[in-house]
Amino acid sequence: MRVYDLIAKKRDGKELGAKEIAFCVDGYTSGAIPDYQMAALLMAIYLRGMSWNEVCHLTEAMLSTGQRLDLSSVGRMTVDKHSTGGVGDKVSLVVAPLVAAAGVPVPMLSGRGLGHTGGTLDKLESIPGFRTSLTPDEFIRNVREVGVAIMGQSERIAPADGKLYALRDVTATVSSPPLIASSIMSKKLAAGPDALVFDVKVGLGAVLPEVEDGRRLADLLNRIAEANGRRTVAVLTRMDQPLGQAVGNALEVAEAIDCLKGGGPADLLEVTMALGTQMLILGGVAEDTQQARRLLQEALDSGGGLEAFRTMVQRQGGDEMVVEDSDRLPRARLKLEVKSPADGYITMLDALKVGRACARLGAGRSALTDQVDPAVGVCLLKKVGDPVSRDEVVGLVVANDEDRGQEVVKHIAEAMAFSESRPAVDPLVLDLIDTAAGHENCKTGD
Ligand code: URA
Repeated sequence: MRVYDLIAKKRDGKELGAKEIAFCVDGYTSGAIPDYQMAALLMAIYLRGMSWNEVCHLTEAMLSTGQRLDLSSVGRMTVDKHSTGGVGDKVSLVVAPLVAAAGVPVPMLSGRGLGHTGGTLDKLESIPGFRTSLTPDEFIRNVREVGVAIMGQSERIAPADGKLYALRDVTATVSSPPLIASSIMSKKLAAGPDALVFDVKVGLGAVLPEVEDGRRLADLLNRIAEANGRRTVAVLTRMDQPLGQAVGNALEVAEAIDCLKGGGPADLLEVTMALGTQMLILGGVAEDTQQARRLLQEALDSGGGLEAFRTMVQRQGGDEMVVEDSDRLPRARLKLEVKSPADGYITMLDALKVGRACARLGAGRSALTDQVDPAVGVCLLKKVGDPVSRDEVVGLVVANDEDRGQEVVKHIAEAMAFSESRPAVDPLVLDLIDTAAGHENCKTGD
């Protein structure tokens, strides 16, 4: 087999077989196939899409480059959750311990921030000492004993995804439903949960902004999960403005802890509840949404969720005292004010622009090898629908570099739009998709 011929075959719109896809994925993971050929193949897939069979073969090939964990020793039904990526999206930090406290173990395999979106691993690593790289035995033991463990894709777990995702990020091939679905599912299936809840983001700051593309991605994720014997639900949620007030790793951890203590912003709690209820239903401890919400509320009110978070942090080597004292998290030197450039109501707070500005500040990375600065980020004091006056402080940029900080102050103000009348605010949770529709060809939506 020659990679050249397979690139040409896909470029010409023909279907690749299981052996051909596995040849490319294995060859790229081992280093036998160079970046430039894989990049060409990814672009051909981006433009031509993939048949249902091709997506299944790609997922399987990526999954098979690593180990599959056996969670049977946990002894209970396990449920994981995955977001397709957003800005200020710290839901995993809140929902995983809450669901664990409500009786469903959560073996969570998470990603890093890339481009304008944040990643759970980067957020957790802002806690001094926290390890996101666990051995399979450690991971399974923590899921069994604590109810929750969060780790990253690694050389042992779906290594193909680590390499392919980094290459997609620099070759403009991220926003492709078959590539997104196989990337997510190869990791998730490797970690071995019984069921999965997907948070499929749509809107300005989502990887696939259009609602219809989000629906198609949700169907595809559900369908791959079901074909692999997992129960699933996808929740379609809006990502037009950042979720919550905090964007930036340590700031988001502090906001997540606040939420676990019963505070925190309403939008963060709303998405947490929407996903958490589905996790409890799939995990078999709740029969319906009402019962699930009650259990989650109890886990919040009793402090059970906070306790699960604290134990997870301690077990994964982190400073558990951050739960009491968020000043133990990394702090930046400078706090710069963002002032409203207008009077009126905020009608837009563009999540893509805010995410890009925060990445520029150092909270995210433009290549997988970049170091993130855990302390920096933005605190959005006003959100869409809020009335503001000219020169009122609407946000704070937390920075370690004055010039970059001032640049981001400008970008955040530019991410906002205003009107004289109060805008209608779209609902955050759009739909629940729990059946898998058929796909002839899963192509990019644009
Ligand atoms: N999240 C992933 O894990 N992979 C993608 O391709 C996009 C979002």
